[in-house]
Amino acid sequence: MNATITGTGSALPAKILTNADLELMVDTSDEWITSRTGIKERRIAAAGEYTSTFAAEAARRAISMAGISPEELDLIIVGTVTPDFPFPSTACIIQNELGACNAVAFDVSAACSGFIYGLSIADSFIRSGRIKKALVIGAEVLSRVVDWSDRNTCILFGDGAGAAIVEAAEDLKGILSTHIFSNGSCWNLLYQPGSGSRNPATDRSVDPALFFINMEGNEVFKHAVRAMEEAALAALEANGMTASELSLFIPHQANIRIVNATAKRLALPAEKVFINLHNYGNTSAASIPIALDEANRQGWLKRGDSILLDAFGGGFTYGSALLRWQLDPLNS
Ligand code: UT7
Repeated sequence: MNATITGTGSALPAKILTNADLELMVDTSDEWITSRTGIKERRIAAAGEYTSTFAAEAARRAISMAGISPEELDLIIVGTVTPDFPFPSTACIIQNELGACNAVAFDVSAACSGFIYGLSIADSFIRSGRIKKALVIGAEVLSRVVDWSDRNTCILFGDGAGAAIVEAAEDLKGILSTHIFSNGSCWNLLYQPGSGSRNPATDRSVDPALFFINMEGNEVFKHAVRAMEEAALAALEANGMTASELSLFIPHQANIRIVNATAKRLALPAEKVFINLHNYGNTSAASIPIALDEANRQGWLKRGDSILLDAFGGGFTYGSALLRWQLDPLNS
């Protein structure tokens, strides 16, 4: 049995935080942020909006595109490091919101690689014959774990969600391969110290700093480029392809310099690289499915196209998915 993507969706907060807004909050400038990261603005959840808010909306849009009903779903996976609660999983909350009463639901903690990990799991479940229809979501509200007084990190991140429906298909091989990797030796270069069992909320440890993203930016940058190249090459090699045969490369949207360095290593021309990080910043697990949905809805993708998704994140985690697109452009 093969697996193929039959619908995509995304959802973003309405509130926009521009680089000019950040100039009023920390010692930074639009010039610095733009030249070092490529980011111009990001979306920020309002009070009363949670990770599940955007995850559910992205899911509804993907379900609608696929033309299925929520009861048909066998599996819901949410990639997130900013779940609504430590438990239950955000996936269980989404299951309830959608009325997907026949699905098994769980979260995957793989930071920015969460969507690719989820896609890989869904693909494996489908190919083994265990399930027929999966909903894979990447969703984050990183603005709640960012130190808004730290210019090293607060300029980078944004909120939002993206989703894909993955279905069993006898003849259509839509997901050609997935490759996922972990390198736990670097876990402490990008992590959130608080809220787990090492630093639980007690009278002594309720220090807000424990709940913020902790990142060694330079080190993360170097690892990201190497790892994304490795994951991309694994996908190409497994399918006997070269990068020149790709129709579109959709990398994790962390930093334009990471994207450009990876594309350069793969000898990919700029017109084959999908970029939307200037609008949303780094939305972690949500970045690839938001980009995939935008590429899909904006008519970048044609049936038969070879599309390479490539992620890297805290853990470290990284991975790729090579797709043969099986949907017609929405406006055709
Ligand atoms: O999804 C995976 C998660 N994370 C990432 O992908 C992040 C990977 N890392 C990066 O994207 C980059 O390392 C950053 C964008 C975080 C930083 O860029 P950089 O070119 O590595 O800058 P840097 O940390 O080496 O800092 C250069 C200078 C420093 O000043 P000095 O020491 O040279 O005087 C920083 O203090 O820039 C300063 N700086 C800033 N200046 C203005 C750091 N942040 C800012 C800022 N505005 N926001």
